[in-house]
Amino acid sequence: MKIIKLKLKERSYPIYIEEGIIAKSGSLLRRLQLGSDAAIITNQYLEKKIGQRLKGSLKKYNISSKIYTVPDSEKAKSFRHCLNLIDKISKYDNNKSLFLIALGGGVIGDLTGFVASIYKRGIAYIQIPTTLLAQIDSAIGGKTAIDLPIAKNLIGAFHQPKAVIVDPGLLKSLPKRQLKAGLAEIIKYAAIKDKPLFSFLKNNYKKIISLDKKAVELIETKCIAIKTRIVEQDEKEKKGIRTILNFGHTIGHAIESAGGYNKYNHGEAISIGMICAAQISHNLKLLREENLDKIISLVRLYGLPTRIKGIALNKIMSSLAKDKKFIHGRNRFVLPVEIGKVKVISNIPQDAIRKAILKHGSCY
Ligand code: GLY
Repeated sequence: MKIIKLKLKERSYPIYIEEGIIAKSGSLLRRLQLGSDAAIITNQYLEKKIGQRLKGSLKKYNISSKIYTVPDSEKAKSFRHCLNLIDKISKYDNNKSLFLIALGGGVIGDLTGFVASIYKRGIAYIQIPTTLLAQIDSAIGGKTAIDLPIAKNLIGAFHQPKAVIVDPGLLKSLPKRQLKAGLAEIIKYAAIKDKPLFSFLKNNYKKIISLDKKAVELIETKCIAIKTRIVEQDEKEKKGIRTILNFGHTIGHAIESAGGYNKYNHGEAISIGMICAAQISHNLKLLREENLDKIISLVRLYGLPTRIKGIALNKIMSSLAKDKKFIHGRNRFVLPVEIGKVKVISNIPQDAIRKAILKHGSCY
Protein backbone atom coordinates (compact mmCIF):
# COMPACT_ATOMS: atom_id res chain seq x y z
CA MET A 1 0.00 0.00 0.00
CA LYS A 2 1.25 3.49 -0.81
CA ILE A 3 0.66 6.16 1.81
CA ILE A 4 1.08 9.85 1.06
CA LYS A 5 0.82 12.08 4.10
CA LEU A 6 -0.69 15.52 3.64
CA LYS A 7 0.99 17.59 6.32
CA LEU A 8 -0.98 20.47 7.79
CA LYS A 9 -0.16 20.33 11.52
CA GLU A 10 -3.24 19.11 13.41
CA ARG A 11 -5.16 18.86 10.14
CA SER A 12 -2.69 16.38 8.61
CA TYR A 13 -4.04 13.17 7.09
CA PRO A 14 -2.99 10.06 5.22
CA ILE A 15 -3.95 9.25 1.65
CA TYR A 16 -3.93 5.46 1.17
CA ILE A 17 -3.56 4.09 -2.37
CA GLU A 18 -3.98 0.43 -3.23
CA GLU A 19 -6.10 -1.69 -5.54
CA GLY A 20 -8.74 -3.47 -3.46
CA ILE A 21 -8.12 -1.27 -0.39
CA ILE A 22 -11.83 -0.71 0.08
CA ALA A 23 -12.00 -4.08 1.84
CA LYS A 24 -9.55 -2.79 4.44
CA SER A 25 -11.53 0.39 5.23
CA GLY A 26 -12.76 -0.95 8.58
CA SER A 27 -9.29 -1.62 9.93
CA LEU A 28 -7.91 1.67 8.58
CA LEU A 29 -10.73 3.68 10.11
CA ARG A 30 -10.67 1.86 13.44
CA ARG A 31 -7.03 2.86 13.77
CA LEU A 32 -7.90 6.50 13.12
CA GLN A 33 -10.49 6.42 15.94
CA LEU A 34 -12.93 8.80 14.35
CA GLY A 35 -16.02 7.52 16.12
CA SER A 36 -18.25 4.50 16.42
CA ASP A 37 -20.95 5.48 13.91
CA ALA A 38 -20.43 6.28 10.26
CA ALA A 39 -22.93 7.91 7.91
CA ILE A 40 -21.99 6.85 4.40
CA ILE A 41 -23.09 9.37 1.78
CA THR A 42 -23.32 7.89 -1.69
CA ASN A 43 -25.68 7.36 -4.64
CA GLN A 44 -27.99 4.43 -5.35
CA TYR A 45 -25.68 2.83 -7.91
CA LEU A 46 -22.66 2.90 -5.59
CA GLU A 47 -24.75 1.80 -2.63
CA LYS A 48 -25.39 -1.50 -4.39
CA LYS A 49 -21.97 -1.82 -5.96
CA ILE A 50 -19.70 -0.94 -3.03
CA GLY A 51 -21.78 0.42 -0.17
CA GLN A 52 -22.71 -2.95 1.31
CA ARG A 53 -19.11 -4.18 1.04
CA LEU A 54 -17.93 -1.07 2.85
CA LYS A 55 -20.56 -1.50 5.57
CA GLY A 56 -19.38 -5.10 6.07
CA SER A 57 -15.76 -4.03 6.44
CA LEU A 58 -16.72 -1.37 9.03
CA LYS A 59 -18.88 -3.80 10.97
CA LYS A 60 -15.97 -6.20 11.36
CA TYR A 61 -14.22 -3.46 13.32
CA ASN A 62 -17.22 -2.47 15.40
CA ILE A 63 -18.11 0.65 13.45
CA SER A 64 -21.85 0.80 12.85
CA SER A 65 -22.91 2.52 9.66
CA LYS A 66 -25.91 3.75 7.77
CA ILE A 67 -26.10 4.61 4.08
CA TYR A 68 -27.74 7.82 2.83
CA THR A 69 -28.17 8.28 -0.90
CA VAL A 70 -28.29 11.49 -2.90
CA PRO A 71 -28.94 11.99 -6.65
CA ASP A 72 -26.15 11.01 -8.98
CA SER A 73 -25.70 14.52 -10.41
CA GLU A 74 -24.73 18.09 -9.60
CA LYS A 75 -28.31 18.49 -8.27
CA ALA A 76 -27.11 16.84 -5.05
CA LYS A 77 -25.02 19.94 -4.27
CA SER A 78 -28.11 22.01 -3.44
CA PHE A 79 -29.29 23.58 -0.19
CA ARG A 80 -32.26 21.24 -0.20
CA HIS A 81 -30.14 18.08 -0.28
CA CYS A 82 -27.65 19.54 2.17
CA LEU A 83 -30.32 20.36 4.78
CA ASN A 84 -32.14 17.10 4.18
CA LEU A 85 -28.91 15.21 4.83
CA ILE A 86 -28.15 17.17 8.00
CA ASP A 87 -31.64 16.47 9.27
CA LYS A 88 -31.26 12.72 8.65
CA ILE A 89 -27.76 12.30 10.06
CA SER A 90 -28.65 14.29 13.18
CA LYS A 91 -31.28 11.64 13.94
CA TYR A 92 -28.70 8.91 13.55
CA ASP A 93 -26.19 10.72 15.78
CA ASN A 94 -27.48 9.15 19.03
CA ASN A 95 -24.13 8.13 20.44
CA LYS A 96 -22.59 11.51 19.67
CA SER A 97 -19.83 9.64 17.92
CA LEU A 98 -20.72 10.26 14.31
CA PHE A 99 -18.38 10.77 11.39
CA LEU A 100 -19.14 10.92 7.67
CA ILE A 101 -17.84 8.93 4.73
CA ALA A 102 -18.07 10.37 1.22
CA LEU A 103 -18.33 7.39 -1.11
CA GLY A 104 -18.49 8.75 -4.65
CA GLY A 105 -17.17 11.29 -7.11
CA GLY A 106 -16.60 15.02 -6.75
CA VAL A 107 -20.25 15.93 -6.14
CA ILE A 108 -20.62 13.54 -3.21
CA GLY A 109 -17.20 14.54 -1.84
CA ASP A 110 -18.01 18.26 -1.95
CA LEU A 111 -21.46 17.84 -0.42
CA THR A 112 -20.34 15.46 2.34
CA GLY A 113 -17.35 17.63 3.19
CA PHE A 114 -19.57 20.71 3.39
CA VAL A 115 -22.11 18.95 5.63
CA ALA A 116 -19.22 17.76 7.84
CA SER A 117 -17.90 21.33 8.02
CA ILE A 118 -21.15 22.86 9.35
CA TYR A 119 -22.86 20.09 11.32
CA LYS A 120 -22.14 20.79 14.99
CA ARG A 121 -19.55 23.35 13.82
CA GLY A 122 -17.54 20.62 12.18
CA ILE A 123 -17.23 16.86 12.48
CA ALA A 124 -14.77 14.36 11.01
CA TYR A 125 -15.21 12.91 7.53
CA ILE A 126 -13.26 10.70 5.23
CA GLN A 127 -13.17 10.52 1.46
CA ILE A 128 -13.48 7.30 -0.53
CA PRO A 129 -13.37 8.68 -4.08
CA THR A 130 -14.73 6.42 -6.81
CA THR A 131 -13.92 8.38 -9.99
CA LEU A 132 -10.49 9.11 -11.44
CA LEU A 133 -11.10 12.85 -11.15
CA ALA A 134 -12.04 12.58 -7.48
CA GLN A 135 -9.18 10.19 -6.67
CA ILE A 136 -6.48 12.50 -8.00
CA ASP A 137 -8.07 15.86 -7.33
CA SER A 138 -11.36 16.68 -5.68
CA ALA A 139 -11.09 14.31 -2.69
CA ILE A 140 -7.84 15.95 -1.63
CA GLY A 141 -7.40 19.48 -0.37
CA GLY A 142 -10.31 20.30 1.89
CA LYS A 143 -12.31 22.64 -0.32
CA THR A 144 -15.95 21.72 0.20
CA ALA A 145 -18.98 23.38 -1.34
CA ILE A 146 -22.54 23.38 -2.52
CA ASP A 147 -24.02 25.36 -5.42
CA LEU A 148 -26.35 28.31 -5.79
CA PRO A 149 -28.62 28.61 -8.84
CA ILE A 150 -26.45 31.42 -10.22
CA ALA A 151 -23.14 29.56 -9.96
CA LYS A 152 -21.44 26.42 -8.75
CA ASN A 153 -19.52 26.18 -5.45
CA LEU A 154 -20.60 29.61 -4.16
CA ILE A 155 -21.19 28.37 -0.62
CA GLY A 156 -18.38 26.44 0.95
CA ALA A 157 -15.74 25.99 3.58
CA PHE A 158 -12.24 24.66 3.97
CA HIS A 159 -12.57 21.43 5.94
CA GLN A 160 -9.89 18.78 5.54
CA PRO A 161 -10.86 15.09 5.62
CA LYS A 162 -9.27 12.79 8.22
CA ALA A 163 -8.17 10.32 5.55
CA VAL A 164 -8.56 9.60 1.85
CA ILE A 165 -8.85 5.98 0.70
CA VAL A 166 -8.01 5.59 -2.99
CA ASP A 167 -8.85 2.25 -4.63
CA PRO A 168 -7.75 2.36 -8.30
CA GLY A 169 -9.65 -0.92 -8.82
CA LEU A 170 -12.90 1.06 -8.65
CA LEU A 171 -12.02 2.72 -11.95
CA LYS A 172 -12.65 -0.49 -13.90
CA SER A 173 -16.39 0.08 -13.92
CA LEU A 174 -16.15 3.80 -14.64
CA PRO A 175 -17.75 4.88 -17.95
CA LYS A 176 -15.04 5.75 -20.52
CA ARG A 177 -16.21 9.37 -20.76
CA GLN A 178 -15.72 9.86 -17.02
CA LEU A 179 -12.36 8.14 -17.12
CA LYS A 180 -11.22 10.55 -19.83
CA ALA A 181 -12.48 13.49 -17.79
CA GLY A 182 -10.09 12.41 -15.03
CA LEU A 183 -7.29 12.02 -17.54
CA ALA A 184 -7.76 15.67 -18.50
CA GLU A 185 -6.86 16.65 -14.91
CA ILE A 186 -3.87 14.31 -15.06
CA ILE A 187 -2.68 16.07 -18.23
CA LYS A 188 -3.13 19.31 -16.28
CA TYR A 189 -0.87 18.11 -13.44
CA ALA A 190 1.77 17.06 -15.96
CA ALA A 191 1.59 20.34 -17.85
CA ILE A 192 1.92 22.50 -14.74
CA LYS A 193 4.46 20.55 -12.71
CA ASP A 194 5.82 17.33 -14.13
CA LYS A 195 7.53 17.04 -17.51
CA PRO A 196 8.43 13.33 -17.01
CA LEU A 197 4.75 12.61 -16.26
CA PHE A 198 3.85 14.43 -19.49
CA SER A 199 6.22 12.12 -21.42
CA PHE A 200 4.87 9.08 -19.55
CA LEU A 201 1.33 9.98 -20.59
CA LYS A 202 2.47 10.42 -24.18
CA ASN A 203 4.33 7.09 -24.30
CA ASN A 204 1.93 4.88 -22.35
CA TYR A 205 -1.47 5.70 -23.78
CA LYS A 206 -2.51 2.07 -24.34
CA LYS A 207 -1.56 0.92 -20.84
CA ILE A 208 -3.24 3.90 -19.21
CA ILE A 209 -6.49 3.75 -21.17
CA SER A 210 -6.75 0.00 -20.54
CA LEU A 211 -6.15 0.66 -16.82
CA ASP A 212 -2.94 -1.30 -16.49
CA LYS A 213 -2.51 -1.64 -12.72
CA LYS A 214 1.07 -0.39 -12.50
CA ALA A 215 0.59 2.51 -14.90
CA VAL A 216 -2.56 3.72 -13.15
CA GLU A 217 -1.03 3.49 -9.68
CA LEU A 218 1.99 5.39 -10.92
CA ILE A 219 0.08 8.28 -12.47
CA GLU A 220 -2.36 8.50 -9.57
CA THR A 221 0.45 8.52 -7.01
CA LYS A 222 2.30 11.24 -8.91
CA CYS A 223 -0.77 13.47 -9.24
CA ILE A 224 -1.81 12.97 -5.61
CA ALA A 225 1.71 13.86 -4.50
CA ILE A 226 1.66 17.04 -6.61
CA LYS A 227 -1.72 18.11 -5.23
CA THR A 228 -0.66 17.26 -1.68
CA ARG A 229 2.52 19.34 -1.84
CA ILE A 230 0.64 22.31 -3.33
CA VAL A 231 -2.12 22.19 -0.67
CA GLU A 232 0.49 21.96 2.10
CA GLN A 233 2.07 25.19 0.89
CA ASP A 234 -1.15 27.13 0.39
CA GLU A 235 -4.04 25.44 2.14
CA LYS A 236 -6.50 28.33 1.87
CA GLU A 237 -5.41 29.66 -1.52
CA LYS A 238 -3.96 32.81 0.01
CA LYS A 239 -0.44 32.71 -1.42
CA GLY A 240 -1.16 32.23 -5.10
CA ILE A 241 0.44 28.76 -5.03
CA ARG A 242 -2.79 26.75 -5.26
CA THR A 243 -3.75 29.00 -8.16
CA ILE A 244 -1.64 26.96 -10.58
CA LEU A 245 -4.10 24.07 -10.17
CA ASN A 246 -6.52 26.27 -12.10
CA PHE A 247 -4.63 25.82 -15.37
CA GLY A 248 -7.32 25.39 -18.04
CA HIS A 249 -10.08 26.09 -15.55
CA THR A 250 -10.71 29.77 -16.31
CA ILE A 251 -11.86 29.35 -19.89
CA GLY A 252 -12.82 25.74 -19.02
CA HIS A 253 -15.39 26.81 -16.42
CA ALA A 254 -16.76 29.40 -18.82
CA ILE A 255 -17.20 26.73 -21.53
CA GLU A 256 -18.84 24.38 -19.02
CA SER A 257 -21.25 27.05 -17.86
CA ALA A 258 -21.97 28.47 -21.35
CA GLY A 259 -22.74 24.92 -22.49
CA GLY A 260 -25.34 24.61 -19.73
CA TYR A 261 -23.24 22.04 -17.84
CA ASN A 262 -24.36 19.27 -20.17
CA LYS A 263 -22.61 19.93 -23.46
CA TYR A 264 -19.14 19.38 -22.02
CA ASN A 265 -18.29 17.70 -18.72
CA HIS A 266 -15.66 19.26 -16.47
CA GLY A 267 -12.71 17.32 -17.89
CA GLU A 268 -13.73 17.99 -21.48
CA ALA A 269 -14.19 21.70 -20.83
CA ILE A 270 -10.83 22.08 -19.10
CA SER A 271 -9.15 20.21 -21.98
CA ILE A 272 -10.19 23.00 -24.33
CA GLY A 273 -9.47 25.51 -21.55
CA MET A 274 -5.86 24.28 -21.33
CA ILE A 275 -5.45 24.60 -25.08
CA CYS A 276 -6.87 28.15 -25.10
CA ALA A 277 -4.61 29.16 -22.17
CA ALA A 278 -1.63 27.66 -24.00
CA GLN A 279 -2.63 29.60 -27.13
CA ILE A 280 -2.82 32.86 -25.14
CA SER A 281 0.61 32.07 -23.72
CA HIS A 282 1.98 31.41 -27.20
CA ASN A 283 0.45 34.63 -28.55
CA LEU A 284 2.10 36.53 -25.70
CA LYS A 285 5.40 34.91 -26.71
CA LEU A 286 5.63 33.03 -23.41
CA LEU A 287 5.28 29.52 -24.86
CA ARG A 288 7.03 28.07 -27.90
CA GLU A 289 4.83 26.74 -30.71
CA GLU A 290 6.25 23.21 -30.34
CA ASN A 291 5.10 23.14 -26.69
CA LEU A 292 1.66 24.44 -27.63
CA ASP A 293 1.47 21.62 -30.19
CA LYS A 294 2.59 19.06 -27.57
CA ILE A 295 -0.27 20.07 -25.26
CA ILE A 296 -2.82 19.90 -28.09
CA SER A 297 -1.48 16.50 -29.23
CA LEU A 298 -1.66 14.97 -25.75
CA VAL A 299 -5.24 16.17 -25.25
CA ARG A 300 -6.14 14.73 -28.66
CA LEU A 301 -4.33 11.43 -27.95
CA TYR A 302 -6.63 10.81 -24.97
CA GLY A 303 -9.72 11.42 -27.08
CA LEU A 304 -10.55 14.65 -25.30
CA PRO A 305 -12.03 17.59 -27.23
CA THR A 306 -9.59 20.13 -28.63
CA ARG A 307 -12.18 22.50 -30.10
CA ILE A 308 -15.30 24.27 -28.82
CA LYS A 309 -18.31 23.47 -30.92
CA GLY A 310 -21.68 25.16 -31.06
CA ILE A 311 -21.40 27.67 -28.24
CA ALA A 312 -21.74 31.43 -28.78
CA LEU A 313 -18.54 33.37 -28.12
CA ASN A 314 -20.49 36.05 -26.24
CA LYS A 315 -21.91 33.43 -23.92
CA ILE A 316 -18.42 32.18 -23.09
CA MET A 317 -17.14 35.74 -22.58
CA SER A 318 -20.01 36.66 -20.25
CA SER A 319 -19.54 33.45 -18.21
CA LEU A 320 -15.86 34.33 -17.99
CA ALA A 321 -16.66 37.75 -16.57
CA LYS A 322 -18.48 36.08 -13.64
CA ASP A 323 -15.50 33.89 -12.69
CA LYS A 324 -15.17 33.89 -8.91
CA LYS A 325 -11.43 33.41 -9.20
CA PHE A 326 -11.03 36.94 -10.55
CA ILE A 327 -9.80 39.51 -8.05
CA HIS A 328 -11.40 42.99 -8.03
CA GLY A 329 -12.61 42.37 -11.57
CA ARG A 330 -9.12 41.63 -12.86
CA ASN A 331 -8.84 38.34 -14.70
CA ARG A 332 -6.11 35.88 -13.81
CA PHE A 333 -4.78 33.13 -16.04
CA VAL A 334 -2.40 30.27 -15.43
CA LEU A 335 -0.25 30.19 -18.54
CA PRO A 336 2.20 27.43 -19.46
CA VAL A 337 5.68 28.67 -20.26
CA GLU A 338 7.28 25.25 -20.76
CA ILE A 339 6.00 21.70 -20.33
CA GLY A 340 5.88 21.33 -16.54
CA LYS A 341 6.08 25.04 -15.76
CA VAL A 342 3.44 27.77 -15.55
CA LYS A 343 3.12 31.47 -14.67
CA VAL A 344 0.11 33.28 -13.22
CA ILE A 345 -0.66 36.39 -15.27
CA SER A 346 -3.38 38.96 -14.55
CA ASN A 347 -5.20 41.40 -16.79
CA ILE A 348 -5.05 39.51 -20.05
CA PRO A 349 -6.76 41.76 -22.63
CA GLN A 350 -10.26 40.60 -23.64
CA ASP A 351 -9.18 40.66 -27.24
CA ALA A 352 -6.37 38.17 -26.62
CA ILE A 353 -8.84 35.82 -24.87
CA ARG A 354 -11.35 36.13 -27.71
CA LYS A 355 -8.67 35.44 -30.30
CA ALA A 356 -7.56 32.24 -28.55
CA ILE A 357 -11.13 30.99 -28.14
CA LEU A 358 -11.92 31.68 -31.80
CA LYS A 359 -8.77 29.88 -32.93
CA HIS A 360 -9.87 26.73 -31.09
CA GLY A 361 -13.60 26.97 -31.53
CA SER A 362 -16.28 26.99 -34.15
CA CYS A 363 -18.16 29.59 -32.10
CA TYR A 364 -20.91 31.70 -33.57
N1 GLY B 1 -11.69 19.42 -2.53
C1 GLY B 1 -10.88 19.80 -3.57
C2 GLY B 1 -9.81 20.72 -3.22
O1 GLY B 1 -9.66 21.10 -2.07
O2 GLY B 1 -9.06 21.14 -4.08
